[in-house]
Amino acid sequence: MKVLFVSSEVAPFAKVGGLADVVSSLPKKLKRVGVDVRVLIPHYQQTKLGMLRAKIVGDTKIFFGNKFYKVKIFQAFLPGSRVPIYLLQQKKWFTNPPEIYGKPTINKKAKEHITKRFLFLSVSVLQILKNVNFEPDLIHIHDWPVAPVAGLLKSQKKIKIKSLLTLHNAAQQTSVPKKLLKSLGIANQTSAQINLLKLGIQTADAVNTVSPTYAKELGKKQFSGELAATIRGKKISGILNGIDTTSFDPNTDPYLWTKYSAKTLAKKIKNKSGLQKNLNLLNNKSLLLVGMVTRLFHQKGIELLVQAMENLTPGPFQFVILGTGSKKYHEILSILEKKFPKKICFIPEFDRHLARQIYAGSDVFAMPSLFEPCGLGQMIAHRYGTLPVARDTGGLHDTVVNYNKKGGNGFIFKKFTGEAFIKSLEEARVTFQNKKLWKKLQFQAMSENHSWNRSTKEYLKLYKKIIK
Ligand code: GLC
Repeated sequence: MKVLFVSSEVAPFAKVGGLADVVSSLPKKLKRVGVDVRVLIPHYQQTKLGMLRAKIVGDTKIFFGNKFYKVKIFQAFLPGSRVPIYLLQQKKWFTNPPEIYGKPTINKKAKEHITKRFLFLSVSVLQILKNVNFEPDLIHIHDWPVAPVAGLLKSQKKIKIKSLLTLHNAAQQTSVPKKLLKSLGIANQTSAQINLLKLGIQTADAVNTVSPTYAKELGKKQFSGELAATIRGKKISGILNGIDTTSFDPNTDPYLWTKYSAKTLAKKIKNKSGLQKNLNLLNNKSLLLVGMVTRLFHQKGIELLVQAMENLTPGPFQFVILGTGSKKYHEILSILEKKFPKKICFIPEFDRHLARQIYAGSDVFAMPSLFEPCGLGQMIAHRYGTLPVARDTGGLHDTVVNYNKKGGNGFIFKKFTGEAFIKSLEEARVTFQNKKLWKKLQFQAMSENHSWNRSTKEYLKLYKKIIK
């Protein structure tokens, strides 16, 4: 079976969120079970091919709108694998702006450029396949940026390639004028403005999403906006993402102060004090250390976090927040940090190594998300014996089991309010004092199987069903 992944992100070359991790991990697993899988993404300004010895495998021109654009095709392998990845270099569309989706404070004109960036990528796909001489049975596309690929495949009758669209976040949508799509050969559009994700959902041979619960939630307006009705008319399955359990392993993770496993759980505490000392926080093991590695956006429940920090920091709590995003959240978190310098540390960066130290050194990991299609943080936290405090939505619902006297692997709250989150954090703190129960919950968390193996089988089954 031959499969091409087309995406706007792939780790470690270009990453904004969890999408990049999925597009990096899943192909590696598919390759191991015999799929000829390859990945296609843009070569952005930030893309560092460095040691990967990429070679140029093609030089071509793509017709887009009313002009030809020169494209260079680089080929490398996803690190640690034999999965070929094609990176397209194109000066006008992929180099500027350096940010994949533009700056957070994007204006209308810049947004149009970003939309065209991904339309250009979508339009390039078939031409590039000819250049590199690869004929996939199926193209696996991800989210709105490359959703038009499904429309393009459908409008070219001679082409037999099937498509699967995976929704990682259906709240992200972009519309373009019908005229523009017509000029690119994506025909049959009726309304004046075309929502690209809607086009993808309507034209893909199959659509799925990244957790069973999000698949159910998607039919509601608050999760998918104007797409809700379209989604309700389509069968959407949910396949949970996995994480790279070899890389996220506290027993081998080179960035920890002390390595540990479920058998040597007592050593985890060294990572807590390592983190406290390193970040200049009060070095006290009885405080409940709440960690969070996140993008700072409304979806991630940052308002709830701020309320919890304001209320709980005077008590036996400590907060470590790593992430970047909206300016207003950067400001609020910095103010809070100044107010409680020994209890709060906010690091406005993207730092993969510190992230691991936070997963290992925290007692609980906060995910108060408004919605969460799958979420990877809670699964990584489990792996490190850190208990998620999460809202009952999407993939969090499917992976976090609320504690009780007999077991569980985290703390769940339902309402999207500061009060509900605070109550859950308080429950975690009380439970934290019951050392025996806490250890039991940690064991259960660490024994969860979040590897890609199960989901890889499910994707394989789905691919087979689509191309048969
Ligand atoms: C998006 C979603 C997140 C999911 C990730 C990978 O970033 O917000 O929940 O885990 O995609 O599918």
